[in-house]
Amino acid sequence: MRNKPYVNQDRFDDIFGKGMVPIDTKVPGRVNLIGEHTDYNDGFVLPVAVNRFVHVTGLIRPDKWVSVYSTAFGERHRFSSENEMNPSLSGWKRFAEGVIRTTLKSADEEAGMDILVENDLPVGGGLSSSAAFAAGLGVITAELNSIELHPFEFARTLQNAEHEYAGVECGIMDQLSILLSRKDSALLIDCRSLQIDHIPIPADWSLVIMDTGIRHELAFSEYSERRLQCTKIAELFKREGIEITSLRDVSSSDLDLLEKITGSTDVLLHRCRHVVLENMRVREAAQALRASDENCIGRLFKESHMSLQNDFEVSCNELDSMVEAAWHAPGCIAARMTGGGFGGCTVNLVRKNMTGEFINTTLSGYRERTGRNGTAIQVSSIDGIMSREGKMQ
Ligand code: GLA
Repeated sequence: MRNKPYVNQDRFDDIFGKGMVPIDTKVPGRVNLIGEHTDYNDGFVLPVAVNRFVHVTGLIRPDKWVSVYSTAFGERHRFSSENEMNPSLSGWKRFAEGVIRTTLKSADEEAGMDILVENDLPVGGGLSSSAAFAAGLGVITAELNSIELHPFEFARTLQNAEHEYAGVECGIMDQLSILLSRKDSALLIDCRSLQIDHIPIPADWSLVIMDTGIRHELAFSEYSERRLQCTKIAELFKREGIEITSLRDVSSSDLDLLEKITGSTDVLLHRCRHVVLENMRVREAAQALRASDENCIGRLFKESHMSLQNDFEVSCNELDSMVEAAWHAPGCIAARMTGGGFGGCTVNLVRKNMTGEFINTTLSGYRERTGRNGTAIQVSSIDGIMSREGKMQ
């Protein structure tokens, strides 16, 4: 891992009043090309680490105090590793303290630290700002305490911290993609075996993220509800004597059986159909990407979006409008909502030489449909922070 001079020492000194050279890490965000709400069902996903970052800088202190300053929240949080965690702590402070304490468990001796967190990743925009935040805190804590991190173990630690301290029962996609992605590639992850494969993105395609500007409060509760529904479906199958561990194991013929049990309009049937077909789409999309097959990837993105809209019901009017505007824009290869849903961003594959035209047309189409201004970020696919250390399976 890196240990290089801080690029903006003045800011660190302004906040912590030091003068010594801290260490830093820049953790990328991620955008998921396809495979939505499949990771916590042991399924397949195809994310990309992108060049928007959470930048974490840290320096050891002579005492046992840990002080974390987040520029995104404009606040500082201080705690001593010698005391228990305050049970009434909430929000980003609880999450940050949880990640740091969890990482420190592997330290021989726990050092105090000053840590600065800066973002150029939109918070809550579906680009995994929270997994990047946690990974950055974990890496800096590990480096300052001489703790060795192993990518797959570290990904699990970060995922568990998100469950325990942020209250989000997320899957493993975000953590693995920001750790193990490779430049100019998407990362195909089998979320059951944790096998990974790097799928090259065609050089004449660009990757554009369009932000609807919408953040729905609903996102957390709806996410938990979807997880619960998926567990319920698995139990339904078990009651019928069909031994499955998760929705990853459901076949098309099992879907027919489920329809007989629940009836064709039941919400659980719709949820299950999304997961089963989305898993198939991910594998097909990986092949289409390898073959630079524009038509195929365009169709798969469209099917995925429609399925998230109608069967999994995690889209919203603004995401639908942004995607429809993109489908009609010049240069569009493929467009769909990305991430957990209920606002946030869409992901778009675009013919590189038409990127400017694509962005302008999509943004004005979005404005016409919703009366709102969206924003566009053209991104590149980059290495994750441990991409060269992760063992290929
Ligand atoms: C969020 C979670 C991920 C994944 C996506 C939906 O981003 O953090 O684990 O479940 O939603 O695909």
